[in-house]
Amino acid sequence: MSDLAGKHIVLGLSGGVACYKAAEFCRGLVKAGATVQVVMTEAAEHFITPVTMQALSGRTVYSSQWDAREGNNMPHINLSREADAIVIAPASADFMARLVHGRADDLLSLLCLARPRERVPLLVAPAMNREMYAHPATQRNLAQLRADGTVVLGVGAGEQACGETGDGRMLEPDELLYEVVRHFQPKVLSGRHVLITAGPTFEAIDPVRGLTNRSSGKMGFALARAAHEAGAQVTLVAGPVALPTPRGVQRVDVMSAQDMQRAVQASADAADVFIAAAAVADWRPANAAGQKIKKDGSGEVPALAFVENPDILAGVAQGARAKGGALYCVGFAAESHDLLAHAQAKRARKGVPLLVGNIGPDTFGRDDNALLLVDEGGTTELPRDGKLALARRLVAEIARRLPRG
Ligand SMILES: Cc1cc2nc3c(=O)[nH]c(=O)nc-3n(C[C@H](O)[C@H](O)[C@H](O)COP(=O)(O)O)c2cc1C
Repeated sequence: MSDLAGKHIVLGLSGGVACYKAAEFCRGLVKAGATVQVVMTEAAEHFITPVTMQALSGRTVYSSQWDAREGNNMPHINLSREADAIVIAPASADFMARLVHGRADDLLSLLCLARPRERVPLLVAPAMNREMYAHPATQRNLAQLRADGTVVLGVGAGEQACGETGDGRMLEPDELLYEVVRHFQPKVLSGRHVLITAGPTFEAIDPVRGLTNRSSGKMGFALARAAHEAGAQVTLVAGPVALPTPRGVQRVDVMSAQDMQRAVQASADAADVFIAAAAVADWRPANAAGQKIKKDGSGEVPALAFVENPDILAGVAQGARAKGGALYCVGFAAESHDLLAHAQAKRARKGVPLLVGNIGPDTFGRDDNALLLVDEGGTTELPRDGKLALARRLVAEIARRLPRG
């Protein structure tokens, strides 16, 4: 993964127990391709050593504005001008109070004040005891930081180092990494609500058996992440998969095609875009048995009769057209052969503006895929790549086709 290739991050640590998480966060930034310059307050050095941070970042750590290593003796100018972003993690209550007041009495606060604001975003990850976090002074400071254009990341809830339980834990390193990566993604779906289905459905035969398919949900989950990164509010209706919910995404778990249809209908009216990436079963057993069907030793096999499942995509597209067509519908076709012909036919059958074809056996369960986009203008190929990279490209393609919001 090289989501941060070419990015230079100044990682600032202020004094809090969560400094231990900053070590792993630093490692994550480097793994994602960023170069990292660590700057620490004096208090932060009581919690974690500059040696650890130097080893992980591969650069000597700065902590003093009087550092004579810089030719001009102005690390606050040099370090802030090199950065693509400054991320303070952890941001102590004290440090944020200093930011609010434009204080500049140590290197880290000085370089935040001296940074070119229009070019170098400042992200802060608060970390403190729940009473400190809930205090009106801290909440006032957070509001003021936001008003000043600082990106204030959320906090986690739970058990704290002090033994108390509540809001104020710093986000976990992977959550911080996600927020930084998200920050750099173009906000092409800002203000839009995107509804996505993902994964297989499960059609019960009896209480312990059922029919499903090989869809892993990875493409739909990658789309949910990409849409959220692009600034959208995202609802993800997921069939039975064990994938983690992408950060910031509202997830609704369902089992059968009928469950999925109900969940989709509940959210479709509020959505601007509907992406049907789930592999919905075409048929379900006509009569699911209420009790487990038992083998009785006679050699007789149960006969299964099927009924057709609702066509979720066609139904939503039809409903949207009836309401004036504000909802932009995108279908997926997982085929085994003749991709273009099947995708074109499915686009016409479902009545949707954009149909995305992929080869089922080449995508189910895999982390990469290749997509063929079919719309009224023709076809666009998105060659084989990681699913998240493809999802970001598809999100950009969808955004280009949306009427201006
Ligand atoms: C053991 C210990 C743990 C602390 N943990 C936190 C913390 O998690 N968050 C916080 O805002 N302050 C915490 N503090 C207080 C800060 O370290 C203190 O306000 C310090 O002045 C912050 O300095 P800085 O903002 O220059 O880094 C803690 C202090 C001690 C002694």
